[in-house]
Amino acid sequence: MQHLLRGLRSIHLAAELRTGVKMDACEMREKLKFEFSADNQRRVKALLAWYPEAEWKGALLPLLDIAQRQQGWLSISAVHAVAETIKIDPMKAYEAAQFYTMFFMKPRGKYVVSVCTSTPCKLRGGDEIFEACKKSLNLEHGQTTPDMQFTLKEDYCMGACVNAPVLAVNDDMYEDLDEKSLGDILAALRSDRLPPAGPQNGRFASEPKGGPTTLKTQPPPPGFKMQDLPDPRTKKCQ
Ligand code: FES
Repeated sequence: MQHLLRGLRSIHLAAELRTGVKMDACEMREKLKFEFSADNQRRVKALLAWYPEAEWKGALLPLLDIAQRQQGWLSISAVHAVAETIKIDPMKAYEAAQFYTMFFMKPRGKYVVSVCTSTPCKLRGGDEIFEACKKSLNLEHGQTTPDMQFTLKEDYCMGACVNAPVLAVNDDMYEDLDEKSLGDILAALRSDRLPPAGPQNGRFASEPKGGPTTLKTQPPPPGFKMQDLPDPRTKKCQ
């Protein structure tokens, strides 16, 4: 369904750009000229060297990412610059930029807070975390604070379900959240500090909270029960 909606948005954008709003888009492009910085030109060159020229289109997403990191968001001229660099139809670049939720087609806050509310996170309180963010930041999904410090997003599975509930702040993941750790994270961001990322409940990664519950002894060696060897499981671990 989400894919369908995004597809419809892309088609809508395409229609706008090809018809009535075309002038506005061109004017905006003139107003917000985009050029890769010298550092990013080097990055783009290094990246394109991985591809044969006929396959430069494969570098579309990394180039959009570089452009977004330079500008903070993707203006029409930035998308055009990417399309021109890899010699593709600009509409293809717009479609990709519209489709992937990591790209922003309008200015965003310094800290993008994305809360996962897919099923595992939902079962572990993801909805409550999102509601608490909405309340604390006074934002709804997709909105940005007037001081451009925060943008809030409700997002989909971020691949850290074993540490649910989770949220991301820009590139960093904050996991095993509860009300207190969420409050601490938002307070740190308000004072312009990025707190340490990762699990917030003392876990190192996704190991059981109270220590291991299985595989607590040395595994038997190859040949176990087939050769006359002592059973290592009766021995104490070294
Ligand atoms: Fe939230 Fe997978 S469901 S990270």
